[in-house]
Amino acid sequence: MMTSSPRETILQLFRETTTGFVSGVRISEVLGVSRTAVWKQITSLRELGYQIEAVPSRGYRLVGSPDVLLAEEIRSGLDTRIIGEDIRFLTVTDSTNLQASALADAGAAEGLVVVADRQTAGKGRLGRSWVSPAAVNLYLSVVLRPAVLPVEAPQLTFLSAVAVCRAITEVSGLQPTVKWPNDILLNGRKTAGLLNEMSSETDRVNYVVLGIGVNLNMTAEQFPTLLRYPATSLAIELGRQVSRVEFTRSLLKQIDTLYDEYLRSGPRPVLAAWEEHCDLTGKSIVVDCQSRLIKGIMAGLDDDGALLVKTPSGTFEKVLTGDVRPVEQGM
Ligand code: BTN
Repeated sequence: MMTSSPRETILQLFRETTTGFVSGVRISEVLGVSRTAVWKQITSLRELGYQIEAVPSRGYRLVGSPDVLLAEEIRSGLDTRIIGEDIRFLTVTDSTNLQASALADAGAAEGLVVVADRQTAGKGRLGRSWVSPAAVNLYLSVVLRPAVLPVEAPQLTFLSAVAVCRAITEVSGLQPTVKWPNDILLNGRKTAGLLNEMSSETDRVNYVVLGIGVNLNMTAEQFPTLLRYPATSLAIELGRQVSRVEFTRSLLKQIDTLYDEYLRSGPRPVLAAWEEHCDLTGKSIVVDCQSRLIKGIMAGLDDDGALLVKTPSGTFEKVLTGDVRPVEQGM
């Protein structure tokens, strides 16, 4: 188990107090540091947005917490087996996927989570960028080291997708749908995107980084006018803000549960759960594979996560990459 940071310990003392107050003496005893060092920790929590009162002869009182994705906040009450034992929070970074990959290259253990408040070079699929403003959304990457073949690793995209759908429903009650391969939609508008990246050798995966971006509290004005697709956020759909910390905890729990199932039972349960969230199964679709268009009926996923399309001639096409769109009735 990870040892707690001083900030994490202080927040835990605030959670446990029955009087509302925690004395400076108690904090210095528990941390084994001087009162001056305690004061520095309190100051650093205040700088992060925690409202902490100091009342003479009673101690410190926490009167307000920000919705900041601090590791200690996410970890509080997080009941996972593998995911999130080590969580790194960055106020700003280029891309959590880049940071997670660098840490994985340096030997980080499976389950490492990198989360950022803002990304300056958020990566989307097919070399696109991912809009990543501060203070509103979730940008998160998880390192996994599954003992699977490189060809099987794309299955994990569907694991992320199902985890995001379940976390959205748990936190908001909304029922998202999925669009192959990596989009999560609310009312037909994209609310989350997934970008999994892998380091592998010929016959083994070194690690997979599950990159997950979820538009949580973004307002309509914060979306660029020239997006390639209609987009939304949970807050737009709900008409109220959601807690980023609560959402992140729920998401990590879902990933942990699904990954455990994936390791024990293989990909089918995860792929079947994804198919249940897909409202295009059995419908007419067009897949834009850049060099060609494939038209047919969406038949589901094969075991590697490739899209199966039943063409008008009755044969099945296996699609590995492309953009799917429905064919409207009467077209
Ligand atoms: C897409 O739909 O094109 C995929 C978007 C993936 C965005 C997330 S945000 C966290 C992680 N870090 C990145 O740079 N990208 C992914």
